Amino acid sequence: MPYSLSVNGQVHLVEDEAQTPLLWVLRDTLKMTGTKYGCGVGQCGACTVHVDGQPTRSCSLPLIAVAESEITTIEGMSGAETRAVQDAWVRHDVPQCGFCQSGQIMSAVALLRANPAPDDRDIDTSMSGNICRCGTYNRIRAAIRDAAQSLP
Ligand code: FES
Repeated sequence: MPYSLSVNGQVHLVEDEAQTPLLWVLRDTLKMTGTKYGCGVGQCGACTVHVDGQPTRSCSLPLIAVAESEITTIEGMSGAETRAVQDAWVRHDVPQCGFCQSGQIMSAVALLRANPAPDDRDIDTSMSGNICRCGTYNRIRAAIRDAAQSLP
């Protein structure tokens, strides 16, 4: 039985197994490769997507658990917070290798939507689940502060 999956406002019928992690449905079945595989066990944040607006690790979430949810991937991000984060990321030249960045941006936008004026502690707490092997944490923090200030 196919599952009905709403991704970035579009409904897809997918025939993957119920326990297939959402990450693989997105990447392999729907060919949305902006969401990355890092650890596969919910520890690194590279696979972060929004499920009903909440930043969520898609590598450890079975398809059956999200069949009734609205999923947003990096490909479907829009709105004031997304634009602010994208612009700040460019201004601060945040990425190094870039692999973790879609997950970082998904978490950063979720933070600003929940808290438009975060202090450093808020930023560190919200971003602590997103690991960057290049160590771009200082630039990420500065870019989020900058993005917050640029929001209306
Ligand atoms: Fe999902 Fe690392 S790949 S948290």
